[in-house]
Amino acid sequence: MKSVIKKNLFLEGKTKKIYNTNNPFQVLIHYKDNITACNGLQNKFLQDKGILNNEISTLVFKFINSCEIKTHFIRKINNREQLCHKVDIIPLEFVVRNIVAGSMSKRLNIKEGVRLLNPIFEIFYKNDKLKDPLINDHHAVFLGIISYEELNNIYKIISNVNNIIKKYFLDKNIILVDFKIEFGKDHKNNILLSDEITPDTCRFWDKKTMKKLDKDLFRMKLQEDVLDIYMEILKRLNVK
Ligand code: TMP
Repeated sequence: MKSVIKKNLFLEGKTKKIYNTNNPFQVLIHYKDNITACNGLQNKFLQDKGILNNEISTLVFKFINSCEIKTHFIRKINNREQLCHKVDIIPLEFVVRNIVAGSMSKRLNIKEGVRLLNPIFEIFYKNDKLKDPLINDHHAVFLGIISYEELNNIYKIISNVNNIIKKYFLDKNIILVDFKIEFGKDHKNNILLSDEITPDTCRFWDKKTMKKLDKDLFRMKLQEDVLDIYMEILKRLNVK
């Protein structure tokens, strides 16, 4: 296996840093130790949270890769870093909902916890100035972000990913309420599932008690330090 040499910082987000490597088509993704909510208005340092999220996302992406779905993930390099294919991120957040919660519950005044007969897909336009508005397919195509064909392809992928990870988590006594995922294009224009799958980007509820096991505890100011919850998720994922 060719050794990976970490080069310059290419991008820094709220919870991750991306470094170039000696391979122009690969990057190192570094998970930071902070937790944010409300577009960065809530931002807290949580020692070692990056280690937990790196490991959780690694386990989930390894599983998705094993199901022959194309993702950016190559392998975990160390506690905080993973090697990934370099992609141009499509500026859309795809949200998949299995149970009503969060913004859907507020927007439509539906009680949290109502099960959806079919998963609902939503797209949010990644634009800080506009505060990431909810848009539809036609807006995304009009904005020149994506084509209808690419959107259809992505909907097939997220439907597939939802089915396989919903079961993966349920086997570990975790209900996958909803999640957010992003896609990118590699240098050959392949669309790859990218981003992370962690308690920062998913809503997880305990199968027996229906208690929240994710960032909602921080978002809703129910619990300041959510490390123990993230550790619990990792512990469950590691049970064979
Ligand atoms: P929402 O109910 O607030 O729209 O969130 C839906 C899902 O998307 C939930 O699992 C949390 C995740 N999410 C992110 O990962 N990043 C974000 O910026 C937002 C708004 C939601």
